[in-house]
Amino acid sequence: MCTWSCILWSSALPIYCNYNYGEATKDLNVDLLNHPEYIEKNATLAFLVAIWRWMTPIKENQPSAHDVFIGNWKPTENDNLAKRVSGFGTTMNVLYGNLVCGKGNNETSMNNIIDYYLHYLDRIGVNPNEAGPHELLSCADQVPFNPSVALPP
Ligand SMILES: *[C@@H]1O[C@H](CO)[C@@H](O)[C@H](O)[C@H]1NC(C)=O
Ligand SMILES: *[C@@H]1O[C@H](CO)[C@@H](O)[C@H](O)[C@H]1NC(C)=O
Repeated sequence: MCTWSCILWSSALPIYCNYNYGEATKDLNVDLLNHPEYIEKNATLAFLVAIWRWMTPIKENQPSAHDVFIGNWKPTENDNLAKRVSGFGTTMNVLYGNLVCGKGNNETSMNNIIDYYLHYLDRIGVNPNEAGPHELLSCADQVPFNPSVALPP
């Protein structure tokens, strides 16, 4: 069962559930499944895991958040039907799925993430108005890529 309570924030990106620990364990060759606390104790590892999560698709036939962010990913017909468009909103869909996406425009976590994004754009000198229209920033109406429960074994 995956709820907000099993989400561990590692620097900027969340690792949630044993599924992620298991995949990270395989890819990074660090036993996070049995020792999730390593992430809290080792900043280098925390960043390694965050970058790994950003760069690695959750499933083979899906984009990574990075691919979506830089525009490498082209939505398929299925994605069009699922309202998954090329834009920031879909990076949230990749990383958080139904924890924040497809829950309408009043979803607090989704709106917090969008606000952080706009805040950091501003901090690095990018006018938040250039971030694109709200439909692209949001994933309010998107069908989640992955349900947070019952991720693949
Ligand atoms: C922290 O993690 C990195 C990456 O796995 C590893 O190379 C390093 O030895 C670790 N540092 C400590 C103090 O365990
Ligand atoms: C969303 O929030 C607005 C403004 O607070 C409110 O008027 C509206 O009823 C809310 N919609 C839903 C579906 O909760």
